[in-house]
Amino acid sequence: MTNTQLRLKPLPRPPGAEVLDFDASGLGAEGAEAMMTALAEHGLLILRDQKLTPAELVAISRNFGELEPPTRDQFCLPEHPEVFVVSNVVENGRPIGLANDDLAWHTDQTYFARPTAYTFLYGIETPREGADTLFCETYSLYEGLDQATRDRYAGIKIEFSHRKLHGGNVSPEQEARYPDVVHPLVRTHPISGRKSLYFGRRKHATLLDVPVEEGAAFLDWLNETASRPDRVYAHKWRPGDLLIWDNRGMRHSATPYDKEKERRIVYRTSVVGEVPF
Ligand SMILES: [Fe+2]
Repeated sequence: MTNTQLRLKPLPRPPGAEVLDFDASGLGAEGAEAMMTALAEHGLLILRDQKLTPAELVAISRNFGELEPPTRDQFCLPEHPEVFVVSNVVENGRPIGLANDDLAWHTDQTYFARPTAYTFLYGIETPREGADTLFCETYSLYEGLDQATRDRYAGIKIEFSHRKLHGGNVSPEQEARYPDVVHPLVRTHPISGRKSLYFGRRKHATLLDVPVEEGAAFLDWLNETASRPDRVYAHKWRPGDLLIWDNRGMRHSATPYDKEKERRIVYRTSVVGEVPF
């Protein structure tokens, strides 16, 4: 399969494109290749009306690269530990997944030396209201900077701290497992060569070699500007939706829903990326 065989319908404004009339269940290496090319351009692919088993979701994801083991294994499918369950459903007194929504804008696993490249979310049961997933991109944010600002931040590094993310409340074992990492603030996409701004969560990010106040003010500005309402796509979920996004140059956030009235079961898999450059 080549890229031209994917029927893409870009959303009215970036990021994102819908893949029309496509059954992902048999997706092989070539199909994944075509999707990775499309993701380099659109950041997010939306596939509606899929019927996937957990094994198929794992097989599809694996075509995009090395699977990333979930960080909290108590919420993985027992027979498919690569699949992380996001859910508010309790069965036999036990939560079947992680119920907490990540309501802060972020890019997945920025605190890894090799952060997530691709994230897959597959909707099994989705609330009728709320629980939208929000997306925005940071390529145009970078391209919109004036030349002086680009020059100022060229080569500047950003530190992501797992410890700060958890308010310093981590065990020595976790601290050893997730040491602070340093990545470039201006990141280059390995397929397209396009530059974006990579700044994770406000809470755990620090710009290095920049005066503290200046760095904090720039990060505040980036966080506010990237996700201005006119830059955001809000995905309204239906069961059978498969979302695949390229974490390079992309940010996302969950939104709340009524956990007393609604049921949400979403499967997630992740693929490891390159060391950012
Ligand atoms: Fe996330």
